[in-house]
Amino acid sequence: MIYEKEIIYGTPEHEEMINLRNRILREPLGLIFSDEDLKKEKKDFLLCCCNEKNDKIVGCCVLTPLNDSVLQLRQMAVESFRQRKGVGAGVLLFAEKVAKKNHYKYIYLHARKEAVGFYEKFGYNIVSDEFIEVGIPHYEMLKNIED
Ligand SMILES: CC(C)(COP(=O)(O)OP(=O)(O)OC[C@H]1O[C@@H](n2cnc3c(N)ncnc32)[C@H](O)[C@@H]1OP(=O)(O)O)[C@@H](O)C(=O)NCCC(=O)NCCS
Repeated sequence: MIYEKEIIYGTPEHEEMINLRNRILREPLGLIFSDEDLKKEKKDFLLCCCNEKNDKIVGCCVLTPLNDSVLQLRQMAVESFRQRKGVGAGVLLFAEKVAKKNHYKYIYLHARKEAVGFYEKFGYNIVSDEFIEVGIPHYEMLKNIED
């Protein structure tokens, strides 16, 4: 079983989250987060799902406010051995809950091409042509969370 948690910038939990993001999202592409990248998320919502048995973070994402009504969902990552077991769904639904609670209307994201099907399952629509980011194909996606 997993539980949801919003974490605080600069805490040991934030460090644990960054480690997961580096392992799942950055290292396979030969990249790593810089301090500059991380400073930018001081005002973001840092969201995690944790394993109830040992409190380890097994999935996470970041929500960055773009304006009063739109949040950008970034850094969605699930521990490799927990993928395709519902953790990503848990993280995404938690993100939508937090977004609604804070009166945002839309969630916008840059989806890796291979993850587009995941977001489509939850009502996100492609709103751009394919583009390259961190060296791989992406699409912009958007969901009106008021629907
Ligand atoms: C993409 C990712 C976040 C999905 O999380 P997950 O825990 O593996 O997904 P879930 O098990 O919660 O899947 C929920 C549903 O989406 C589907 N799904 C999951 N990944 C999918 C994918 N890549 N393509 C299409 N459908 C997918 C599942 O089959 C499931 O459908 P179902 O409810 O009909 O059974 C996760 O696999 C991951 O971290 N991948 C590597 C990093 C990455 O690509 N991050 C996204 C960057 S935009």
